[in-house]
Amino acid sequence: MPETLLTDVEQLPILFSRDQIQARVSEMGRQIRQDLCGEPAVLIGVLKGAAIFLADLARSIEVDCTFDFVSASSYQSGTRSSGAVQLIKDLDEPIEGKNILVIEDILDTGVTLNFLYSHFERHKPRSIRIAALLDKPSRRIQPIQADYVGFQIPNEFVVGYGMDYAERYRNLPDIRILTPNAVS
Ligand code: PRP
Repeated sequence: MPETLLTDVEQLPILFSRDQIQARVSEMGRQIRQDLCGEPAVLIGVLKGAAIFLADLARSIEVDCTFDFVSASSYQSGTRSSGAVQLIKDLDEPIEGKNILVIEDILDTGVTLNFLYSHFERHKPRSIRIAALLDKPSRRIQPIQADYVGFQIPNEFVVGYGMDYAERYRNLPDIRILTPNAVS
């Protein structure tokens, strides 16, 4: 467990402020609403990191929608990716014939979303769209792209707005860079 305390959070550099995030999420919502052309959608949040993004994006989309959640883990505790995906929680409701919007906080190696995309495809939805708040294209090892990306970022480990380090920092309103010295 890192020694960094929540009181040290202010020392972590801000990558995107809460205002920047809010503005971008609103833009993404407007674009998604347009693209759905008034059709209903199932918003599928990938737990846990996407919970806060889903909550904000859902209110920006303003279409007839339902929520569902899956949980698939590709990271070990800490900053290292394990490469293997484990489906921990599947969908609650059938998605056959429905428009689905998969909502992720961050698209990194693409291992998680690539796995989930194939999983959802097998259930024959009408359409699959992916919204990722953050995208780290330099880290991609699987050929998957999001239809909607909030921000492209360099290869930094980020926390806040749903994203964690060892389950902490998810509730920070800004997205901050977890600098190596913060966890040493
Ligand atoms: C993070 C993130 C994505 C995934 C992206 O989830 O929320 O689901 O990793 O990484 P990838 O593109 O390299 O697969 P994580 O497994 O850390 O779980 P969490 O959302 O509960 O923090």
